[in-house]
Amino acid sequence: MRERTLIIVKPDGVERGLSDQILERFTANGFTVVQRKEMTIPRSLAEQHYAEHVNKPFFPSVVNYMTSGPVVVAILEGEDAVARARALMGPTDPAKATPGTIRGDFGESIDRNTIHGSDSAESAQREIHLFFGENPN
Ligand code: PPS
Repeated sequence: MRERTLIIVKPDGVERGLSDQILERFTANGFTVVQRKEMTIPRSLAEQHYAEHVNKPFFPSVVNYMTSGPVVVAILEGEDAVARARALMGPTDPAKATPGTIRGDFGESIDRNTIHGSDSAESAQREIHLFFGENPN
């Protein structure tokens, strides 16, 4: 099924100039980039984005990190976009990610893991709305 997902190239990825290379991995695998923008995430938006993790010990550090520098946010569209994007990204912890995945190739550590991707179609819809508003094309 054709669907959309939201990815964020995190500050460590943008800092190292990896955004284009990372987006090309998606387009080379049949994804379309519907929207793309570079921004520094305001604290309130980061808190909303990670709201489900508010009680986790890593919540303050993930919010601090995601607001620490520019990120590239993109809406990607393709067949089974959520699951296929996550497969290309690899697992959350780069130490567990195989080479050839984005986190396996570029991730530095669990708290600097280069990329975020929506974890379900529902999350994708919520995150697209948070970052791009109600009618993002
Ligand atoms: S959980 O508990 O399984 O629901 O959490 P998880 O999906 O693994 O992670 C949620 C997001 O928090 C980031 N994360 C961390 N950041 C900093 N430090 C630590 N220890 C840490 N653990 C998890 C993780 O990268 C997830 O962010 P996104 O942006 O979704 O990749």
